[in-house]
Order: sequence, then structure tokens, then C-alpha cells
Amino acid sequence: MITIETKGARVPALGFGTWNLRGADCRKMMPEALELGYRHIDTAQAYENEAEVGQGLADAGLARGELWITTKLWMDQLDPAAVPRALAKSLERLRTDYVDLLLIHWPSDEVPHLETLAAMAEQRDAGRVRHLGVSNFTVEQIAEVTAGGFDPLTNQVEYHPFLSQDDLRAALDERDMILTAYAPLARGKVAEDPVIVRIAEAHGKTPQQVALRWLVQQRRVAAIPKAGSRKHAAANIAIFDFALDEAEMAEVAALGRRRERLVDPSWAPVWDAA
Ligand SMILES: NC(=O)c1ccc[n+]([C@@H]2O[C@H](COP(=O)([O-])OP(=O)(O)OC[C@H]3O[C@@H](n4cnc5c(N)ncnc54)[C@H](OP(=O)(O)O)[C@@H]3O)[C@@H](O)[C@H]2O)c1
Repeated sequence: MITIETKGARVPALGFGTWNLRGADCRKMMPEALELGYRHIDTAQAYENEAEVGQGLADAGLARGELWITTKLWMDQLDPAAVPRALAKSLERLRTDYVDLLLIHWPSDEVPHLETLAAMAEQRDAGRVRHLGVSNFTVEQIAEVTAGGFDPLTNQVEYHPFLSQDDLRAALDERDMILTAYAPLARGKVAEDPVIVRIAEAHGKTPQQVALRWLVQQRRVAAIPKAGSRKHAAANIAIFDFALDEAEMAEVAALGRRRERLVDPSWAPVWDAA
């Protein structure tokens, strides 16, 4: 495992995504993921699985300090008055006293980011959150947040071989922030790309493993693939026994010019151009 160390945090670069993993399937996958070596779990209030994530993690019986748990405040919970109650409910469902990372899930047009972050910071100071972060923020929104005196640990955004994030990566790098890549497998599309397939064959790996390796090999980039089976979860974490060389890293990066964005809901901000 690669561990990203920044801003006093130690974050496993490969995490386990849980969107679309619900009910008994979710509960069952948690102990499996931990057994395979995952320690970083990504959930959100909006995924409606915090209770199953919490139950599954409890079933595994690992010490809380060994886990990194991220959750996210949904858009109707960003008012400063709503934050403490929303977080309390998440903690109850997750069966824990604190989360390692609390994110604003999507930037809001209605509630100023700095107000939500101030309420989140109070929760951090009270010990219920270790680190603050954001998700789906643009370069301009990151600049606004840092100019306002906040120092988020990460911006969690869509990032995979078919969507470059050059501007955002530079902005986050300048601030020692982590870019957490969601939809890192481009929801399966990486398996069909001839460049990735060729590199995978050269290493005796799968295209999915090449895509994940390409992400975590970049400075302060984490990836959180979702897997619904032990087989996929095991394959996704078997990426620390090989490395891509500079030419291969560049070849995969070049695919990002296609700019294929898979997650673009009506409430999304105006995305960065490059
Ligand atoms: N912050 C945000 O707004 C946001 C938005 C989207 C996602 N996320 C987070 O990011 C996580 C990952 O993104 P995602 O779930 O959208 O997409 P993803 O991880 O790119 O792709 C997941 C899909 O790939 C399949 N898969 C996984 N491992 C595989 C393997 N080794 N071989 C073949 N297929 C494989 C999964 O199938 P199976 O289920 O059958 O294994 C699933 O259909 C989410 O779960 C969530 O935690 C955050």
C-alpha cells in the first residue's frame, strides 16, 4: 500500500468506494475488504449505506484507529445549523465516535462554502471529525476556500485515464492537498481501451489494475474503486507489486485529453476546462 502523508494525515492511497453497494451486499463486503487489506472506506449520507458500512466494519472487529472512514454531507445538510445533527446521525449509523474525513459532497449555490466549513471545523474541534475536505470543487472554489482560511485535506473528484484534471491537480498540489479520484475505473470503460490493454498485457496485469496503478503512482493522488465482489476487490488492491515507467505514465495521461466525464448532474458546478 502507498500511504499519502500530508497535513498531519496518513491516508491509504487505495480506498474502497461504496456507492451503489447496499444492504446485505454492503455489510458482507466490508469484512472482505478489510481482510484483503483495505483500510480506507469511502461512504456518504447520500449512498444510504452508512448503517451497513458501520455494521460490516464492526463485524470485522478491527481497532478503530486502523481504519480511515470518509463520509460526506449531502446538499440539504450544508446549512451550518444542520451540520452537527447530520454528522451525529452519520456517526451513529457508522457506529463510531469520529470520522477521519468529512466532505462537502457537492458545492452549494445556496449556502456559502465558508459557512459550512466553519460548522464542520467546530465538529472537528469537538473531536467528531479528524480532517475536513470537499468534493466536486473547481479550481476557483478551492481558491475561495483556502483564501477564506480553510485548509481542506482533499478534493474528491472524478479522475481516470479518460478525464484529465491538469488544472485541478496543479491547484491542489500547490496547497499540498490530496486529489481523491472517484470513478477511477471510468465505471468499467478502462477495460476497453487498446493503449491500457497493451500496457496491462506487458505487465501481466488487467486494464483495471493499470488504471488504478496510474492513479496512485501520481503524487498525492488516492483512488477509491468500488467493487461488489471479493474477486474485483482483490484484483483492485493487487497493484503494489508492479510500477509503470515514465513513458507508460505519459501514454495513459495522454488519453485524458478525451475529457470523458461520466458524473455530471444538473447541480454540478461549471467544471474546469483542462
Ligand atoms: N464524490 C462524489 O460525488 C462521487 C461520485 C461518484 C463516486 N464516488 C465514490 O467513488 C467510488 C468509485 O466510483 P464508481 O463506483 O462510480 O466507479 P468505479 O469505481 O470507476 O467503477 C465501479 C464499477 O467497476 C466495476 N469493477 C470494479 N472492480 C472491477 C474489476 N477489478 N474488474 C472489472 N470490473 C470492476 C464494478 O463492478 P462490481 O460492482 O460488479 O464489482 C462497478 O460496476 C464510489 O463507489 C463512491 O465511493 C464519489
